[in-house]
Parts: sequence; C-alpha cells; structure tokens
Amino acid sequence: MATKVYRIAVIGGDGIGPEVTESSLKVLDRVAGKYGFLFDFRKYLAGGCAYDVYGDPFPDETLKGCRGSDAVLLGAVGGPKWDRLDPSLRPERALLGLRKGLGLYANLRPAIMFKELSDASPLKNVKETDILIVRELTGGIYFGDHGRSRSDELLSDGSPKGVVAYDTESYSEGEISRILREGFRFAMGRRKKLTVVDKANVLESSRLWRETAEKMSSEFPEVEVDYLYVDNCSMQLISRPSTFDVIVTSNMFGDILSDEAGMITGSIGMLPSASLGTPGTPGLYEPVHGSAPDIAGTGKANPMASILSAAMLLRWSLGETIAADNIENAVRKTLEGGYRTFDIADPKCDNRKIMKTDEITDIILSKL
Ligand code: IPM
Ligand code: MG
Repeated sequence: MATKVYRIAVIGGDGIGPEVTESSLKVLDRVAGKYGFLFDFRKYLAGGCAYDVYGDPFPDETLKGCRGSDAVLLGAVGGPKWDRLDPSLRPERALLGLRKGLGLYANLRPAIMFKELSDASPLKNVKETDILIVRELTGGIYFGDHGRSRSDELLSDGSPKGVVAYDTESYSEGEISRILREGFRFAMGRRKKLTVVDKANVLESSRLWRETAEKMSSEFPEVEVDYLYVDNCSMQLISRPSTFDVIVTSNMFGDILSDEAGMITGSIGMLPSASLGTPGTPGLYEPVHGSAPDIAGTGKANPMASILSAAMLLRWSLGETIAADNIENAVRKTLEGGYRTFDIADPKCDNRKIMKTDEITDIILSKL
C-alpha cells in the first residue's frame, strides 16, 4: 500500500514563530516515521515578514497554498516593527484573512493546567483546571460593518462629537447554531458541561445566542448547560476555574476570555489552539502565545505550545490520534522529568534542566 502523504502549509511568521514551528516540524517528522506516514511541508509567508518581502501581509499565494493543504501550522504574526502600518497592511490582517479565507469558524482554545506547573498560576489554591473555550471566529464585531464618519451634533455637555468610528456586532442564527453545536459536541466528549457566555442583558445579538442555545439544548439532553453574562464569567473564571468544562462564546468575548483562562493556567507558553471550518477543509493550528519579539533569536522560546498545536493538527485534521497522544504524552513526560524553558522555570526547579528551544525539543523527541 502506498504511504500516506499529508500536505501541510507551514507559516512560521514573525518573532519566535519560525523558531517554535521548526521544533514542531521535527516532532511531526519523527512521529510520521514512527507511525508510517509522510509529511510534505510547504512553507508560506504571512504577517510582517510577508509585508517586508511583498508589501502585503497576506499574499494570495499563501491563501492558495493553505487551501490546497490538509492542514496549516502557524507560528505567530506581528511585532512592533509593523505597528505603525495602515490597518490594511498590519500583520494581523493575515490572521483574519486566513480565518475568513479558510472559513475557520470554530476556534478551540484549551486552557489546561499542567500539574507540574500549578505553582505558576497567579491564583492561589487552584485545583486541576481543564477548560475548553470554543470561540466563534469568523463573525461578530471582528467582521461586521465598520468605518468612520463625522458628526456635527453636540454631546450633552455641549462639546462637539467630531469623528465617529463604529464596529458592528451582528450574528445570524445560522452562524450561532453551527458554533453552538460544536460547543455541545465537544461537551459530549468531555465532562458534559457547557457554559454559554453572552451579554444578553444588554445586546440583541446576545439574546439570539441565548434563544438559539436554549432551543438546541433539547438535542443534547445529557449536557448540563448554564448561561453567564461575560462580565460575570470573567469573575467566575477567577473564583472557580476548575468547575468549567466547555465555554462557547462569540468572537470578541472568546478573544478576551481565552487570554484570561490561559493566564489562570500559569503557562501561556504551553497553550495550543485549533481553528476549524467545515469538516474536510484544512484547519489551522497555532500556539496561543504571540510572536514575543523581545526574545526572538535568543533560544528562550518555549516550543511546547506549538508542538501541542501540532498534536491537535494530527488529531483534528488528520485523524492520527495515536500519534497525537504520543506527542502529548512526550510533552507531559518532559515536564515530569523536571525539564523547563525559561518562561516556566520556577525557583524550585533544577537550573541544569532549564533548556533552550532546541534542547527541550531534543528532550521531547527522545520521549516520543
Ligand atoms: C487572538 C489574537 C487575534 C484576535 C489578533 C492578533 C487579531 O488576539 O488570536 O486571540 O484578536 O483574534
Ligand atoms: Mg487574543
């Protein structure tokens, strides 16, 4: 039988993106050899590095290459070097373009506390925490009508309004249903608890989220559903993080809550993510941490979030679950062995086991 070859679009991007992605490619190649398949990695530019070469952060060729792949592995995009560019040329355009261009409406952000790293949580006495945030990714205020106008009206205190800028939060029932369904499905595969987060006390779009969730809940009678306003949820995440299972929410609320949940685990450098579209189309996998330009090139980057993203890629886009398990176990064993990168080193850890990016990658490879 012919060996299975998976085509992967690889976008290292900016800052530490390319460094951590290299680590993942080594790990992916190793498991491919072990489990009898092959990878055809094709590299593409996106973000600031693409702007530097093409004057465009998101070249057509990159989207085309990604569309023709089985999955996309991304490092990170952005950095201070490109912060002053016009919004249409900023590196973030590439991310938003990939999400929209590949139809990646479901963003999965697990916030898992590794027990070896529990001291790193900024919260006291947190027990084991394993939250999955399911964030809607191609709708809402990120992609709604936006623009600027000028108003001659006066404010209540008599001062002129001047320039008005607006961004619109709008959601269709269809968009809400398809992401809620993902939330319910993932809850079914886990502890069967789903928290729907909205601002239904104020926003009409949120009221539609809540109505739609209430209707759908009868299709999933085993799932215990609760509803939280986003402000309350951000408080509950701090006070009782271990009680959450799956959180499903809109694009912007998910952006904010996933950073908060990530911080609670104390190991933002450890958190992977997946962005998925219609089954059968390529998903995109990337570490949650950004491009960290301050440590780029120093060997201090923690490659584990990218490596765990590669494991998600194997699991959710390629169906190679055994290889995915193998990678996740290797990362766990590396932590159990006391090995750390700079970001997750604590005063109690053995200084001789604080590793650079390449060194910890070798340790992980040795545990596969
Ligand atoms: C994220 C990031 C992006 C977002 C930015 C960089 C556009 O914060 O992936 O969470 O807001 O979605
Ligand atoms: Mg964010």
